[in-house]
Amino acid sequence: MVEKTSVLFQLLAICFCSSLALSSENYQGGKWKLLKRSIGISAMHMALLPNDRIITFDRSDFGPSNITLPQGKCNLQTSSSDCYAHAVEFDPATRNVRPLTILTDTWCSSGALSPEGVLVQSGGYGLGERVVRYLKPCLNCDWKEDPNGLVSPRWYASNQILPNDYTNHRVIRKYPVLPGGVSRNYPSTGSSVLLPVTLSSSKTDTTTTPPDAEVLICGGTLPDSNQKADAGVFVPASKSCGRLKITSENPNWEMEEMPLNRVMGDMILLPTGDVLIINGAAKGTAGWGVAREPVLNPVLYHTINPIIGVKKINRFEILSPSTIPRLYHSTAHLLSDGRVLVGGSNPNINYNFSTNYPTDLSLEVFYPPYLMSNNNKSRPLITAIKPGVLLEYKQEILIEFEPRGDDLAYVGDNNIYATMVAPSFTTHSFSMNQRVLVLAMDGVSVGVGKASSRNHIVRVQAPTSGAVAPPGHYQLFVVHEGTPSKAMWVQIKGS
Ligand SMILES: *[C@@H]1O[C@H](CO)[C@@H](O)[C@H](O)[C@H]1NC(C)=O
Ligand SMILES: *[C@@H]1O[C@H](CO)[C@@H](O)[C@H](O)[C@H]1NC(C)=O
Ligand SMILES: *[C@@H]1O[C@H](CO)[C@@H](O)[C@H](O)[C@H]1NC(C)=O
Repeated sequence: MVEKTSVLFQLLAICFCSSLALSSENYQGGKWKLLKRSIGISAMHMALLPNDRIITFDRSDFGPSNITLPQGKCNLQTSSSDCYAHAVEFDPATRNVRPLTILTDTWCSSGALSPEGVLVQSGGYGLGERVVRYLKPCLNCDWKEDPNGLVSPRWYASNQILPNDYTNHRVIRKYPVLPGGVSRNYPSTGSSVLLPVTLSSSKTDTTTTPPDAEVLICGGTLPDSNQKADAGVFVPASKSCGRLKITSENPNWEMEEMPLNRVMGDMILLPTGDVLIINGAAKGTAGWGVAREPVLNPVLYHTINPIIGVKKINRFEILSPSTIPRLYHSTAHLLSDGRVLVGGSNPNINYNFSTNYPTDLSLEVFYPPYLMSNNNKSRPLITAIKPGVLLEYKQEILIEFEPRGDDLAYVGDNNIYATMVAPSFTTHSFSMNQRVLVLAMDGVSVGVGKASSRNHIVRVQAPTSGAVAPPGHYQLFVVHEGTPSKAMWVQIKGS
């Protein structure tokens, strides 16, 4: 894939500056809040560490950013010495920004959290294309770079944590082509997720059948849209989504239609198992200044709703709009408190604050509808995880929680579940390693031996193996009547 750098300037002369923002009268469509007007860099890549710090970085060959390297350092490897930081750590709780040192180019690179919780980031562009970089989740840690970490150069790569025993080297299934003729990859960028995987208890199910897995791919645009955008014609993006049960013997795509057209959207799995489709544009494509009509409204995809009627739209819900366009090089990431952090957008060459879609250095959060006041009162609070947060496969876990609210809402098997969310690494409209596991549940009971009668216990089972949950850190949530708790971090030990 080659990015076109030559087409930007002529295109900006033609401006359709409208953007799509369907306003919502109340806040039931969620709400937005600006967390930081400038973090000093444009958030092209984003990851969450187990200490709840966001690590975000840009490419590092784009000249000055708006934040300098720590301790007055300068990068002497570049032709003109660069004293600017291109990576920062952000604390969503305090909104503190700490500049970090990356000396090689990370443009369009990939990453994942190692089982120990270290952010491993790989590849990039130019001198960075074979570099592997490590960042530990600690107070004043900075990047360590291994210049020859990769055997082959990797630009626009992706990372996925695999189970330790992944050794068969066999193609297991071939899938049918997604119908409709829409392209989903750069520059016709769509997005995709592995939908929540529902685990069954090894106590009741002694077979070794793996759980069903489904993928959902949404948005994108026709294959020639980028050529047309280069010529000044901005084609509407696609509304289509395809959903495929990848574990079926003969799977078929189930096609659905989003209520809004979208290219360059991000798809973020929420702790409830629903999918937030956010960021991007309604016309044009990814790339340099070739998108129009930013889509400011996220759309919620209700994963388990059945499809009713010919229009097939009842799984989708249009949510409250932001005011900030998030186009090429923008990102989104789930936080442990259930909010979604959104940043980035730089369809320009270098940092340019005077184009129609200026380089954006801000971070904002979206509060999904489950955090709004009418639901808020039933937001559960996890008080303890027993025997502890270090988990072994198949182990029984007791999650103690308090349902919130004035009146003790009924708590029962049918309105409680627990999920584990694997933190992802997001860039270019894709969240690598993103996964939600719905844990097998053995029951809910009112806690005993506690002063508070609110105390409840949900008994769940840890995932059965590395095939469904590779070793590493996960955010554990309890969901009560559709409202998730804040996450507690747990770690599955490697075997
Ligand atoms: C920003 O982009 C505009 C429009 O393409 C261009 O005229 C201007 O020179 C750019 N500014 C910088 C600082 O690169
Ligand atoms: C970034 O720095 C430039 C140059 O100093 C300045 O013009 C611009 O307003 C700054 N942007 C933000 C968002 O702070
Ligand atoms: C939700 O509840 C918390 C704690 O009671 C409160 O601080 C917060 O303002 C509430 N949020 C909304 C949207 O009402």
